[in-house]
Amino acid sequence: MPSPIRRIAINTGGGDAPGLNAVIRATVLAALERGWECVGIRDGYNGVLCPERYPNGGVLRLTAEHVRGIAHLGGTMLGTTNRGNPLSFPTAQPDGSVREVDRSDELLAWFAREGIDALVAVGGDGSLTIADALARKGLRVVGVPKTIDNDLDQTTTTFGFDTAVAFATECVDRLHSTAESHQRVMVVEVMGRYAGWIALHTGIAGGAHAILLPEIPYDLERVAEAITARERAGHSYSIVVVAEGAQAAGGARDVLAPAVAGHAERLGGAGEHVARELQARTGKDARAVVLGHLLRGGSPSAFDRLAALRFGAAAVRALDAGQSGVMVSLAYPNMEYVALAKVAGRMKGVPLDGDTVRTARDLGICLGD
Ligand code: F6P
Repeated sequence: MPSPIRRIAINTGGGDAPGLNAVIRATVLAALERGWECVGIRDGYNGVLCPERYPNGGVLRLTAEHVRGIAHLGGTMLGTTNRGNPLSFPTAQPDGSVREVDRSDELLAWFAREGIDALVAVGGDGSLTIADALARKGLRVVGVPKTIDNDLDQTTTTFGFDTAVAFATECVDRLHSTAESHQRVMVVEVMGRYAGWIALHTGIAGGAHAILLPEIPYDLERVAEAITARERAGHSYSIVVVAEGAQAAGGARDVLAPAVAGHAERLGGAGEHVARELQARTGKDARAVVLGHLLRGGSPSAFDRLAALRFGAAAVRALDAGQSGVMVSLAYPNMEYVALAKVAGRMKGVPLDGDTVRTARDLGICLGD
């Protein structure tokens, strides 16, 4: 059995998602219940690795007072970053260039020096891959799966996804009336990176007529035919939901900015692209709406809030039981633990033979194939 815990740290990494503050609250309260202290590291690991950026401290002690009344708030009180991997930390060189340096030993030495026995790392694929590497180097770590994209393997769902889908669905609901009034095609681009979970769930819930997913390379002729068929049936408007990572069969993804050292490519433009092409093919007026970062904001839904609180408490229970190198997994209706190694670097796409895709097809929704 590892040595008893007296202090733990928590951090949040990657893109923010509704529910992060609820995880922080549950982690802190569950730690305090056990007589442990808890500290929060700002902006992933930057609070430790770049203390000069934080005049008020890159690490803060978290008491019950600090986490009072935050479970319903969007964002993260600790801040986050997707450019602070301690294993390849972007570091300015004397000649002005930036080189990626492995600073993980420095990080582990800091934990030892500060008497911090374990870390709760809250994040998506990138953050959990880092957590896995730190666990392998000897740090006691438990991961919590966060992302609006829902693309993490080994968990029924991540927190943040439900809130994103609820908001996107409300937006699609609102677009029906304006699309119908103007007899237009409205194309709604949603986030999700290389997975189509947000698009699929939003499209079905919001009554879209076509949904384009990264998992199904699309042919816009098929979508144009579906729009024209609706027209012939007397429905002179259509709603198309497009995942930012969707691409034409034999085509390429719409990329706003290519990957640069330590930072993934930025997707975007699929909505405009699809709207332009559908207008040309159907002769109907088409407009694109990009929901983008709106999906990451706002209060977590009750589902996400509860899941996040359960994730945080379960992470502390895992540490208390001597576990490390695991991620808390929602194995509905229970919380379980899976090895971080089984999650790291694996993306969970929408299964094409799953019930939800089949539901879309049964409802007559065009999936572009
Ligand atoms: O992973 C969450 C996510 O919101 C993706 O859906 C999106 O592609 C990406 O992050 C955008 O990240 P950034 O914060 O760099 O704009």
